[in-house]
Amino acid sequence: MTWIIFSKIFICILFTSGVSSKYFPPSIDFGVATSAYQIEGAWNVDGRGESIWDNFTHTIPSPIANGDTGDVACDSYDKYEEDVRLIAALGVKYYRFSISWSRVLPTGYSNDINLKGLEYYKNLTLQIKKFGMIPVVTLYHWDLPQRLREDGIDWINIDLVQHFVNYSRIVIEHLPEVGIWLTINEPKQVCHYSYGNGRFAPGIKSSGLLEYQCAYVLLKTHAAVYHMYKEEFPNYEAKMAIAPDCQWVKPLTDKPADIAAAYRQLEFWCGLYYQPIFSGDWPYEVKTRIALRSIMEHYNQSRLPQFDQQEIEYIRGTSDFIAVNHYVTLLVSDVDEGPDDVTSFENDMRTNWTFYPSVNQGANGFTVNPWGIRKVINWLHEQYGKQDILITEVGISDNGTSLNDDFRISFYTGMYCNILEAVETDNINVFGVIAWSYIDNFEWLDGYTMHFGMYHIDFSDADRKRVPKKSVEFFQNLTTKRYLNCEDEL
Ligand code: NOJ
Repeated sequence: MTWIIFSKIFICILFTSGVSSKYFPPSIDFGVATSAYQIEGAWNVDGRGESIWDNFTHTIPSPIANGDTGDVACDSYDKYEEDVRLIAALGVKYYRFSISWSRVLPTGYSNDINLKGLEYYKNLTLQIKKFGMIPVVTLYHWDLPQRLREDGIDWINIDLVQHFVNYSRIVIEHLPEVGIWLTINEPKQVCHYSYGNGRFAPGIKSSGLLEYQCAYVLLKTHAAVYHMYKEEFPNYEAKMAIAPDCQWVKPLTDKPADIAAAYRQLEFWCGLYYQPIFSGDWPYEVKTRIALRSIMEHYNQSRLPQFDQQEIEYIRGTSDFIAVNHYVTLLVSDVDEGPDDVTSFENDMRTNWTFYPSVNQGANGFTVNPWGIRKVINWLHEQYGKQDILITEVGISDNGTSLNDDFRISFYTGMYCNILEAVETDNINVFGVIAWSYIDNFEWLDGYTMHFGMYHIDFSDADRKRVPKKSVEFFQNLTTKRYLNCEDEL
């Protein structure tokens, strides 16, 4: 015991004296993440209703690589106990998972509760607690109940707000053990991918139009859940936030136009969702660009729905900390104004971007530039003031052919060293970092061709055996020793 206390003190002294940036301070906890549709399977078992992703992946011809679906996925619905055991053995503190709305409410409506669904999440949560970990729960990771969508109640209909609040209330009431709540995962993908370019379920293509209506409804939904939570559950201690993704941007040249373009891209991709919550109203750059383009394109008002003062106040401050998913850094340049007969998000943002080059990259082409994460969290601080930060996702993909994932180990080393540097040198208050993902899973449009896990799964194996990759040992070491050699990483 005394030894443990002394070694902790020693680690703290090393850390605070700045002698080394190799040790993680006790204030940072590690975690791993998954989401319901990507791992659970059991899509029509025990009363679960259909979600928009079931419907989308069952479409013929399939929009997904190899026609893959999440019907079975990692079969975590049946194997959750094994999963929690393996996650605990990684030595992490946080397990982030999401709730499938249609498993709890098969139609999406709150008058039709599936007790078996609630029971599943209760058991999962208790299991996580049993192993001394903290459940981090995402209420929405992209799987809207199909029935709501068919009834026209989706992210472009303001009526969704009340249904989402009703659903959230049921889940929150049932799971008082949850340690951190995340309302919506990656709002940019919900709006830009699902209602802009239409690549994600439900596949609506309305670039520059409905995707902004979606952003408006989504922010009001998030705020409504937050207010409901604070008013109706005053005794709950769990904090609540939204989890946007934010990728870092570098201007292609130091020409003012490229610098401005990089800034614009940050505001269109990240500020659009952070700013209304952390400062109030849309980012000025986004608001003025869309207003200007709307006039050029002969609309009689801006395509971006405006918040009135009451809405601004209602949304502002609805987060207890900043959550961020981060994967990649982009190289951004300015482009000429697009034609005035084409309405699109791209014409509004008016940038060109590619992945910032690097010899290291994931199987999906995401290049590795770990300094980007340090930039992102610094930017979040500069924009929105000093806030606690939880990095809710960071990860890299392989193509599933080898258990030797040295490149993943080097990716995490680089990312985590840069996070540590941000904490130590830039004084950023990061209290946790959550890796995507504990296990290979259904990677949306890429199906099972992209593997983000520390545990490998052969998706043709009916048993979905979990097989450790080399990164498992790396993580176990990291969480026990809390040490990384960062010499070449910064
Ligand atoms: C972000 C999403 O939240 C997650 O669902 C996805 O699998 C990872 N990024 C990797 O692309």
